[in-house]
Amino acid sequence: MTETYAVELQDVVKQFGNVVAVNHVSLQIRDGEFFSLLGPSGCGKTTTLRMIAGFEMPTSGAIYIQGDRQGYRPANKRPVNTVFQNYALFPHMTVAENIAFGMEMRKTPKDEVKRRVAEVLDMVRLGQMANRKPKQLSGGQQQRIALARALVNRPEVLLLDEPLGALDLKLRKAMQIELKALQEDVGITFIYVTHDQEEALTMSDRIAVMNNGVVHQVGDPETIYEHPADRFVADFIGETNFIPVKVVSLAPEIVVELGSGEKVTAGWVEEGLSVGDRAVLSIRPEKMDLLELNEKPSNPSKDTALVNGKVTQLVYVGTDTRHTVALGDGTEVVVRLQNIYIGEEPWEIGEDAIVTWNAAHARILKE
Ligand SMILES: Nc1ncnc2c1ncn2[C@@H]1O[C@H](COP(=O)(O)OP(=O)(O)O)[C@@H](O)[C@H]1O
Ligand SMILES: [Mg+2]
Repeated sequence: MTETYAVELQDVVKQFGNVVAVNHVSLQIRDGEFFSLLGPSGCGKTTTLRMIAGFEMPTSGAIYIQGDRQGYRPANKRPVNTVFQNYALFPHMTVAENIAFGMEMRKTPKDEVKRRVAEVLDMVRLGQMANRKPKQLSGGQQQRIALARALVNRPEVLLLDEPLGALDLKLRKAMQIELKALQEDVGITFIYVTHDQEEALTMSDRIAVMNNGVVHQVGDPETIYEHPADRFVADFIGETNFIPVKVVSLAPEIVVELGSGEKVTAGWVEEGLSVGDRAVLSIRPEKMDLLELNEKPSNPSKDTALVNGKVTQLVYVGTDTRHTVALGDGTEVVVRLQNIYIGEEPWEIGEDAIVTWNAAHARILKE
């Protein structure tokens, strides 16, 4: 038996004239999941969301919501609601009236309206604000009203398009935690659009990383960060070093040669690379360490990379220090070392160092 997904996209394409905004996207979003569409501006996130909502129709492909093929079904007939960044509350109405508005339009009985408004105001912890006007509320509170207004319709899926984009950093961080907790409480599937990788990592059960209308990888936050599928994902999520290499061997182990001629092993290689190909070794700055020349192990395991370099820059950033190190061929890598030890000799610019890492953290990706 095949699983019924909250939302499923099958090979969806959306063209605006010559622009291919969404390019053969297939996604399977599970019931109750907090699922994020993450990518740079213009990559097709909003268009994807608008097609799920029914504000745009796909050029080709199919969209299913709870197993029902949507076809040309209009937005107001779909079991979804959308929260936009510009949430446009009615300024002359109270909070409660803003939330009740949609239900009143649909002639929902008065006592039911009252009950449901109270219920969602409780959910977003704004019970005491029911009689205020939007301009008497903070930005974060207004955003919670917009959320309440969408939740009151009891959608099966809530679509959120950069809903925290207008808030300042501190409030945005607080709202991220709150929104995630609320989603877990109500158990509604959330599809969340953001260009902010940290936001996506913090909140999501799973993330689809998009670029140029194409989904590059779908996975949980740890998988996306620790095991990026290609160079775009490795580059877009977090900070990564890309060291130019040549593939020397793929089996029994993956071996690559650096520009300096030094050889190292790696834990994973992207499909499609062959022996002799140019590629990049991708490794996160916090997965690397520095050794003094006299600390070089005499009998290192084959999984321990040991590469000669010279410290060229030091940037103290509080929790850690970013050490820029030039390798033999001039390639610069950043090594982040946590500031744990008291009284330790710091590295100095111009000092020779051995850059070391475990092969399991090194991924060989196409250029
Ligand atoms: N109504 C439209 N008409 C023409 N081009 C559009 C329209 N909507 C979006 N696009 C284009 O489609 C691409 C994807 O846009 P969008 O989905 O808004 O990206 P994102 O939300 O990821 O920033 C962009 O190149 C954008 O200019
Ligand atoms: Mg957008």
